[in-house]
Amino acid sequence: MSTWTPDSWKQFTVSQQPVYPDPAELDLVLKELSDLPPLVTSWEVETLKDHLAACARGDMFLLQGGDCAESFNSCHPQPITSLLKIMLQMSLVLTHGTRRRVVRVGRIAGQYAKPRSADEEQRGDEVLPTYRGDLFNRSGFTRDDRTPDPSLLLRGYERAALTLNFIRGLIDGGFADLHHPEYWDLAFVDESPMKAEYKRLVANIQDSVEFMEHVLGASAEAMRRVEFFTSHEGLSLNYEQAQTQMVPRRSGYYNLSTHFPWIGMRTAQIDGAHVEYFRGIRNPIGVKVGPTMTNEILERLLDVLHPDNEPGRLTLIHRFGADNVREHLPRLIDVVKRSGKLVNWTVDAMHGNTETTADGIKTRRFENVLSEIQDSFAVHAEENSILGGVHFELTGENVTECLGGARQLSEQDLHRAYVSKCDPRLNYEQALEMAMLVAHELRDES
Ligand code: PEP
Ligand code: CO
Repeated sequence: MSTWTPDSWKQFTVSQQPVYPDPAELDLVLKELSDLPPLVTSWEVETLKDHLAACARGDMFLLQGGDCAESFNSCHPQPITSLLKIMLQMSLVLTHGTRRRVVRVGRIAGQYAKPRSADEEQRGDEVLPTYRGDLFNRSGFTRDDRTPDPSLLLRGYERAALTLNFIRGLIDGGFADLHHPEYWDLAFVDESPMKAEYKRLVANIQDSVEFMEHVLGASAEAMRRVEFFTSHEGLSLNYEQAQTQMVPRRSGYYNLSTHFPWIGMRTAQIDGAHVEYFRGIRNPIGVKVGPTMTNEILERLLDVLHPDNEPGRLTLIHRFGADNVREHLPRLIDVVKRSGKLVNWTVDAMHGNTETTADGIKTRRFENVLSEIQDSFAVHAEENSILGGVHFELTGENVTECLGGARQLSEQDLHRAYVSKCDPRLNYEQALEMAMLVAHELRDES
């Protein structure tokens, strides 16, 4: 294999990148970006890698979730706080049900770039470049908006820094204090069909915390803080490279724009630039695998991305869809087994279950999301493998984007509060209910 450098990906075919009209301007921006401080540290990245190794062994459980695409305009305190709250609530439910520690990873502080199925979009007679996410261009349908603008890379870095700064402040300030899980309640918790079960659980936890402190003398400080990590699809290799660096007293390069970057399904070509870039960084990495992933390619990806079988290094995020998981998962589990390597398997139960209503609205059914998760647990158990986590597109807001759930959202409801500009997300209630149902699965499994 050729020598890896942070820019060796440039020698490979790179998909899903915009064409910048002025390369000199891009270079200036990238230089500036690479001189700015990192958003995360290598200590945090290594800690997460250890946790993901524990997920792979079945000792911890990964909860990864957030928006399909963040936008610069929605960098407000409210959605950030709500996402943190719902992730905390879900992790509480999962931990309580399973006695496994839950690792929380947001799709946040950098999830600004999206893969697209077409390079161009036509409206009437006009054909313009597609919108690829706020990191690349703007969503309005004018040539100006759609022309890739390198300064957006800087803007993305800054938005990510603002988001992360707020999250760190909340957590350090005691927002996630286990003595007060009621602080995490969202405004609409009282309306929720899940209210009774959730309140019971919170009361239970408060009892346990008191017990730990008063009877066992556990430190109160330990219960005031939680860990929260960030992730995003590492789509823009220019952006990822600019934040890739060596750190003192460690070997190798770290991508310090996020703890946990992943390779999307459309950029996981074995001989492509994304795989080349990802093979050289020290972060734990994810790879999305769908129905088109062949056994042979997965075998080669394991060689290239996971050569040393380093614990926690590789998470395979499978996303087959409720109808396909039983067909494809066993063969891929078999490939991993034959390689003799340990990976962290997780299920993204969103991206294989997208459909369009008769009104042309993109949605997902709660029952299909749940069914893919249930089948994933079952297949891993049958194959003597471990499902180490779940991956969702979700929000802590009261939106109506996915169908079903305890409140039985219907196609009519989708017109009421559909906010996502990209894929439909589980709303607050659907996400909490999903966590309760996943906790049941995990309990039954152990
Ligand atoms: C995503 O996670 O938003 C996404 C585009 O997923 P995938 O690469 O699995 O299609
Ligand atoms: Co999506």
